[in-house]
Amino acid sequence: MVRKRRDKITIIGAGNVGSTAAHWAAARHLGDIVLVDVLEGLAEGKALDLMATAPVEHTDYYVVGSSGYEHTAGSDVIVITAGLPRKPGMSRDDLLMRNFEIVKSCTNQAAKHSPDALIVVVTNPLDIMTYTVRRISGFKKNRVMGMAGLLDSARFRLFVAMELGVSVEDVKAFVMGGHGDSMLPLVRYCYAGGIPIEKLIPPARLDAIVERTRNAGAEIVALMGDSSAYYSPAAATVQMVEAILKDKKRIVPVSACLEGEYDVLDGMYVGVPVILGGNGVERVLEIELTREEMDGLQKSVEDIRESIKKLPF
Ligand code: NAI
Ligand code: 2OP
Repeated sequence: MVRKRRDKITIIGAGNVGSTAAHWAAARHLGDIVLVDVLEGLAEGKALDLMATAPVEHTDYYVVGSSGYEHTAGSDVIVITAGLPRKPGMSRDDLLMRNFEIVKSCTNQAAKHSPDALIVVVTNPLDIMTYTVRRISGFKKNRVMGMAGLLDSARFRLFVAMELGVSVEDVKAFVMGGHGDSMLPLVRYCYAGGIPIEKLIPPARLDAIVERTRNAGAEIVALMGDSSAYYSPAAATVQMVEAILKDKKRIVPVSACLEGEYDVLDGMYVGVPVILGGNGVERVLEIELTREEMDGLQKSVEDIRESIKKLPF
């Protein structure tokens, strides 16, 4: 008999998103967790702290922290959150280059130690970093994906539920496109209790909800000052990890590689609905879009493509 071992999740970057994702993953008993951070002691300290919650919670989970990659060997899923936030005086291009180098180095090391893993990318700029990880790892396209659509959709659902004063459970919606100014919250595909949202909320209020969804990340940065959102990004990331490890076949928006779908031929990554299961992105779902929505998606892809051209692969 082959003994089943516990699933292994590596989270690179033990900052706000990474350590919160470790917390969610441990609380959901998804497997053993390896936290990695370039800052000596940070991942080790957070791992030990998290491990010490296990006796309090009367449960068994194993979390190890490290500034190297030896412990990550044989991971089933790798989450990349390593990167810099944008600092005052830093242009988008500066951030792009700095995070490119960080993500490149993390990918090289993580892929070497776990050649069969699936990779979920969180580092911004999200779609570009996800493309980077695919290029650097050389992994098949289904095994590399980015987290943003689940988060953006959660924000959209929250703002609709707040507007109607109803449970978020009953609001279904999803957001396509790039994780940035050109994201596409799709009002036509948003339902509350099975009722199209356009029948419940007047157009001007819907426009305001769409705008707030697009700016939700910036709204939180403006409130917190020196940090961006992390509870909801971490929760959304762990939902993806869970869908993979439990082969759930969830239909969720993720940043996925397009090679023909939505008229994108060249392997760009952008947010689209997919079936997410044990093999990662098992299928990209091509839904019908209006001309205007399709133009919005193409604009997102074009912005991503232009940024990728600047990267020194
Ligand atoms: P943070 O600054 O709290 O944590 C980042 C961590 O990465 C730091 O601990 C840093 O030491 C570590 N790091 C830097 N270089 C590294 C390397 N070479 N190897 C290993 N670790 C390294 O930032 P936070 O809030 O956790 O955000 C992380 C990233 O996720 C950022 O790029 C942020 O913009 C992005 N993000 C993306 C979201 C999405 O929806 N895709 C949502 C929220 C954040
Ligand atoms: C967010 O949307 C910063 O991408 C991050 O909150």
